Amino acid sequence: MKRVAILISGGGSNMIKLVESMTGDHPARPVIVGSNDPQAAGLAHARALDVPSFAIDHRAYPGDRAGFEAALLEPLLAARPDILCLAGFMRILTPDFVQRFQGRILNIHPSLLPKYPGLHTHRRAIEAGDAQAGASVHLVTPDLDAGPILGQVRVPILPGDSAETLAARVLAQEHRLYPQVLRRFAQGDQRPITLTAA
Ligand code: GRF
Repeated sequence: MKRVAILISGGGSNMIKLVESMTGDHPARPVIVGSNDPQAAGLAHARALDVPSFAIDHRAYPGDRAGFEAALLEPLLAARPDILCLAGFMRILTPDFVQRFQGRILNIHPSLLPKYPGLHTHRRAIEAGDAQAGASVHLVTPDLDAGPILGQVRVPILPGDSAETLAARVLAQEHRLYPQVLRRFAQGDQRPITLTAA
């Protein structure tokens, strides 16, 4: 049974879907949920789902990314995770941190990578006049939003879409994609999948 740790920064809607998916004959179970924000609403959801949780406030380590990550690593490693899922985690991790989990750290990014790494992905896709947007689950490497793609879901951009309406449509599809990718990854299957919006 693979042990899965999940890092969040906010509402944790992807974390909730990942946790809810790990039941029955699923080859993985959630062992810890961590956040860089003690006020993250997702922490209450993790508790409600009976998943141990912790928070390390990154604001307590101004200009000290290494110090923050050292504090983050302690409860994280204590949970002995096999797989680390970043789910709406908004802190950039140093190469040192990533290398500790190299090959077993996943992230979901709200664009069709390699397009639009970084922030404000939906606004950028709309402004570019793209017909489609979407989300990608990828292996995390030291370069931001750049690792091998494990899964993507495509979502149409509709006339009149705002970044908010598009973000909501993409988020609903993230909730389908990430659990499917995690299940395959936990079974050792890294063949990429492409979903179309339901
Ligand atoms: C969303 O913008 C999502 O696209 C991205 O992180 C943000 C929050 O996700 N992955 P969550 O609700 O905290 O999972």
